[in-house]
Amino acid sequence: MNTIRTHLLVLALLASLSACQPSAEPSMAAAPAEQPTAVAAPAMAAREPVDLVARGDYLVRTTGCNDCHTAGYAEQQGQVDRAQWLTGSPLGYTGPWGTTYAPNLRLTLAEMDEAQWLHYSAHLRTRPIMPDFALREMSEDDRRAMFHFIKSLGPGGAPAPAYLPPGQKPQPPYMALVLPAQPIAAVTPDQN
Ligand code: HEC
Repeated sequence: MNTIRTHLLVLALLASLSACQPSAEPSMAAAPAEQPTAVAAPAMAAREPVDLVARGDYLVRTTGCNDCHTAGYAEQQGQVDRAQWLTGSPLGYTGPWGTTYAPNLRLTLAEMDEAQWLHYSAHLRTRPIMPDFALREMSEDDRRAMFHFIKSLGPGGAPAPAYLPPGQKPQPPYMALVLPAQPIAAVTPDQN
């Protein structure tokens, strides 16, 4: 017991000694921990409107929204004019759920304010192949940034083709998911 305590004491002493070792930035030791936060907060608030749009732009480019919701985006390695971004796509996704089309998000968001989008995107449940689970997992800050970026593009383009129920054959272009004879689970759309 005593030996364990001694070991723990030695460990604690070593830890505190290493924390006191001279660092590359000696000012760190002297400065109170709150200082950087106190300085950063007003600066971020001042930049907020611009940063939100830039962050949203980054997110729709890197989290896949453009890949599906912008016609030709993936095929052209992202070299699509911004005027067409997120205006939906005529590429159908066919499977046991029927055929879905990535809708025109600029028209979807035209109907919403920020609070509505935050609620909607946190609870969205769609049919495949939309990764709705990933959108729901995104932080509120990220979803807010996407909202401001998509709003900054303005409403544009036309609605994407309408959903086709199972059994209706889509016109090309479409991607088809072929599953084993026994589907693993039924898909129940539950949009809110
Ligand atoms: C793999 C393709 C794919 C990706 C990636 C994708 N979506 Fe979708 N999305 C779809 C499809 C297809 C639908 C239509 C689903 C349906 O009909 O139920 C959809 C539907 C939606 C809807 C519902 C819109 C409406 O008007 O009903 C929203 C909102 C949405 N996606 C946002 C996003 C965002 C934001 C991202 C990026 C984080 C994203 N999607 C990434 C394919 C995709």
